Amino acid sequence: MNDILDLKKAIEKGNRARGLAYIKDKPEMRSGKRNDYMNGFFHLKEKDYPFKVWESDVYDIILEYGTGIYVVETVGSEFHGAYLTVTDVDIYPGTTITQDDFLAGIPRYKLEEMLADVAAELTQRGTSEKCWKLVDYTLRHEDLEDRFMVEGAAIKHHDNIVGGLANHTIKMLRILSALLDNNPSLVESADLLTYSIIMHDIGKVFEYRDLATSEYWYANHRVRGIEFLSHLKDKVISCYDEEFYRQVQSVIAGHHGAYGDRPTTVAATIVHYIDVLESQTTELISQQQAAPSDRLRHPDFGFLQMIPLTDEIDEVAAKEE
Ligand SMILES: [Fe+2]
Ligand SMILES: [Fe+2]
Repeated sequence: MNDILDLKKAIEKGNRARGLAYIKDKPEMRSGKRNDYMNGFFHLKEKDYPFKVWESDVYDIILEYGTGIYVVETVGSEFHGAYLTVTDVDIYPGTTITQDDFLAGIPRYKLEEMLADVAAELTQRGTSEKCWKLVDYTLRHEDLEDRFMVEGAAIKHHDNIVGGLANHTIKMLRILSALLDNNPSLVESADLLTYSIIMHDIGKVFEYRDLATSEYWYANHRVRGIEFLSHLKDKVISCYDEEFYRQVQSVIAGHHGAYGDRPTTVAATIVHYIDVLESQTTELISQQQAAPSDRLRHPDFGFLQMIPLTDEIDEVAAKEE
């Protein structure tokens, strides 16, 4: 009974269905010929399904509780396009299903697997056990409310999905691993670079909330990251020393390169380059996938001819075979 409603099926004309649905944005009231009615959208995995509520005792509940998860009864309807008529609604009392289940994203177990894989690789290349213990301690810190694995990496651009922040961070660790292989003298700073990458965008946990800007978004993620790091100051200095701590601070402050505080350390500059390489590649690919024509427009370089790409679904199928 408390399953997520299959909205694609439920919206088919005449279908009656009952289940959980998520209202992400506040619905609006409209005046009809006879009475007012509610117009809104149920959100599921990047898609919005329109719904209407005609009965005041039903829409009053949504007006009172606002956005969130509801148990709904619907009828597939059609008038100038398909929509759902909501005939009954109740606030979802449970806790097993959360709004993350309705948003598109990478599941936590997958991210944890990916992180474990790159950690094993980096350990081979010089990152110490002490560093991974500190990473573990950091990600479990109560200030993060366990959100590192679920928050997005951006509102509009790269990795705007549940788990996007962790995904972006893990992809950067993979690039770091290649750099350590290419430049053996960097191995001396493997811990510093590893920990700095984990920390560079961690302030997004506070800058964003569920893929939208948080209340205090204007104190940006570099500021919030440095603030969070200060709560770990004693721990970091007891594991390493003050220099390590100050170097990590400088990476958080300087990782946007020319767009923000300029980097003041080699570590901040390297992390900046890794960050740009990772986010820009991801952005180019997703732009190409979304663009309808054979060229896309780059803000600095103008029109770019597209590149052949593997269909993601085919690729996953090929890997699993
Ligand atoms: Fe950043
Ligand atoms: Fe980043």
